[in-house]
Amino acid sequence: MLEKYFKIMTYGCQMNENDSEKISGLLKDLGYQPTDEDNKADMVILNTCSVRENANDKFFGHLGKYKKLKEQKPNLILSICGCMMQQEEIVNEIKRKYRFVDLIFGTHNIHVFPDLLSDFLERREMVVNVWEDGEQIVEGLPTDRKYSFKAYVSIMNGCNNFCSYCIVPYTRGRERSREPENIVKEVQSLAQSGCKEITLLGQNVNSYGKTLDNPISFAGLLRKLCKVDGIERIRFMTSHPKDLSDELIETIAEEEKVCNHIHLPFQAGNSRILKVMNRKYTKEDYLALVEKIRKRIPNIAISTDIIVGFPGETEEEFQDTIDVVQKCKFDSAFTFLYSVRGGTPAEKMEEQIDEDVKHDRLNRLLDVQNDIGRELNSVYDGEEVLVLVEGPSKNNPNKLAGRTDTNKLVNFTGDEGSIGQIVKVKITGIKSFSLDGVQV
Ligand code: 5AD
Ligand code: SF4
Repeated sequence: MLEKYFKIMTYGCQMNENDSEKISGLLKDLGYQPTDEDNKADMVILNTCSVRENANDKFFGHLGKYKKLKEQKPNLILSICGCMMQQEEIVNEIKRKYRFVDLIFGTHNIHVFPDLLSDFLERREMVVNVWEDGEQIVEGLPTDRKYSFKAYVSIMNGCNNFCSYCIVPYTRGRERSREPENIVKEVQSLAQSGCKEITLLGQNVNSYGKTLDNPISFAGLLRKLCKVDGIERIRFMTSHPKDLSDELIETIAEEEKVCNHIHLPFQAGNSRILKVMNRKYTKEDYLALVEKIRKRIPNIAISTDIIVGFPGETEEEFQDTIDVVQKCKFDSAFTFLYSVRGGTPAEKMEEQIDEDVKHDRLNRLLDVQNDIGRELNSVYDGEEVLVLVEGPSKNNPNKLAGRTDTNKLVNFTGDEGSIGQIVKVKITGIKSFSLDGVQV
């Protein structure tokens, strides 16, 4: 039988990456093989993101490219899925203007993809199947993981927070937690196949487990997972400041396996803006929380997400964002221009900020953060750190790259045989976004 190949393009966050691993697992079970080459692919899947406009733009750009490819290869099956497909107006636009798309599904029904595919193969006309919301999270899907030694594990889906700028509660639906037993089983089986590091994923991990029949806290889940032999590092994201418990801080401090890193988006420094964003904490609450975490875990790395140019943000209010960055000294910050999302409360807000002003604020913010990043990295100079080696470095194939427990990217000279191992690296150079070193 002829080999059949598929290519998946994943846009957006780790949740989408994990979903793509499941789609890949399902396709492998059907006998398809993965490829990165357009020309080799019999099927292309675009797993979309709608969190900001530029993700939408990128997707539509690629769709144009695949239209041309389909003209050359009429039998190519083009499937699209992910967050954008949960927006009715986008699906309608695709049905109207992009008739060459073969199959559309959403974030809640990945598991029915094989059925949709056989439906398409029978009828040979566009199949659209998007569910408005999901019930329980579907367990037991095959997952074709990118690495053998580190893995994403989704612990919950959806979000109930409705931050006023954010599309996620509409595209990923209401918050649902997986049963802890199922998560433990998945992690045990990962450990048995040689996995050393897991990253637990949820839009707001701090509210994990609250709505289960037998409620359990996120810290409680972490403690269970720490008992799994073979797992050496546990990461998690994302933490919402409003729900971060003392129990979680204690757990990070006490449990060896839980990494000394927390991703704690603050989004904006000004309390009025935070209120309009519906974030449910003030500037002072956030600063006090960071102080509390640092007091209990002095060597913790904290990263964050920041949005500049939210509707109505004045220069003075933006200065509060700079102030928080200067006071908290984040190890890293993901910074975004506010992007209008259709259907969110912020879309309707007057006083949308000019693009020029947004760009100017972003540049000034980056200048401040880059200096801080370099300053924090400089404490590593000459130190020996433990790194989980991921593979060749992206900027120099003769070097290796990996991450410390504090999530610092380290590019280093070392032994290729150590990929997948945790090794000692001596730091010999400092950059704003990474460290250089030599394996010891
Ligand atoms: N515009 C800009 N950034 C956004 N984010 C979410 N929605 C928007 C938006 N409309 C950012 C937030 C969030 C991260 C994943 O994406 O900072 O934490
Ligand atoms: Fe979006 Fe806020 Fe939910 Fe994060 S917590 S996914 S920013 S609504």
